Amino acid sequence: MKTKTIAVFGKGGVGKTTISAIMLNILAERCDGSILAIDADPSYGLAFAMGFGVKKTVDDIRKDIIKSIKKGIRRDKEDTLRMLDYEVFDALTQGTKIAFLAIGRPEDEGCYCKVNYLLKDIIADLAGNFDIVLIDGEAGVEQINRRVMKTVDSLVLVSDTSAKGINVVETIRHVAHDNRAVDYQKIGLVINRARSEEEAERIHRNTSLDLLGWMPDDDLIREYDFEGRPLTDLPPSSTTRQMVIGVLEKLGF
Ligand SMILES: Nc1ncnc2c1ncn2[C@@H]1O[C@H](COP(=O)(O)OP(=O)(O)OP(=O)(O)O)[C@@H](O)[C@H]1O
Ligand SMILES: [Mg+2]
Repeated sequence: MKTKTIAVFGKGGVGKTTISAIMLNILAERCDGSILAIDADPSYGLAFAMGFGVKKTVDDIRKDIIKSIKKGIRRDKEDTLRMLDYEVFDALTQGTKIAFLAIGRPEDEGCYCKVNYLLKDIIADLAGNFDIVLIDGEAGVEQINRRVMKTVDSLVLVSDTSAKGINVVETIRHVAHDNRAVDYQKIGLVINRARSEEEAERIHRNTSLDLLGWMPDDDLIREYDFEGRPLTDLPPSSTTRQMVIGVLEKLGF
């Protein structure tokens, strides 16, 4: 089985989780295979956007391992890996077609490097069991820089219409490509909250990326957001949903 991985990255608040949730919903409808959704953003919004409950996170697993070490429980490497396997399986939330894993939010330290390190091993081990893996990334370039996912098929970079947003996706492209932080097959830009196709095109022309698509500022998404409704409920007529179908088709899904 050849796993196809989609990773969604960009500046904070540009719509990574929104597009990830809509993509997952479309993939679950259109593809026969199994799907793993990884909420790699410490502020886990994807669980909420998908209507999933989270019982255990990657960070909880890390804490459990530390706790058992502190208790003096010694394990050899094989035993630790077996424990990790069990813990990861336990942390997966299994929906009808989508399994879900959240990275969680470490409270006891300022940096996420330790969970990112664990996440790297977990992604590598777990991904092979699924046909499609979608990663809703942390804001910014950190996880790309730390090579949390070494190989992905599609690197989807999301920006709003701001120069800051575009700056961040260019930095991510630079780190991924020029610094060889990620091996990818396809890379492209999605412009969120554009007023029109012309506006999206105009912004895109000043970038070095292919345009995968754009999404309008959508009153329906705003309404769902306000009511706390999962984006999985978006009707097929939703313009944004149709735009996301276009993005997935460009990526070969
Ligand atoms: N096209 C859109 N139309 C209307 N509202 C949107 C649109 N895209 C995103 N939003 C809203 O903007 C906010 C930020 O979106 P989202 O959480 O998807 O961004 P993010 O990039 O995942 O943020 P973070 O970096 O915090 O993870 C959310 O409240 C979301 O509902
Ligand atoms: Mg998010």
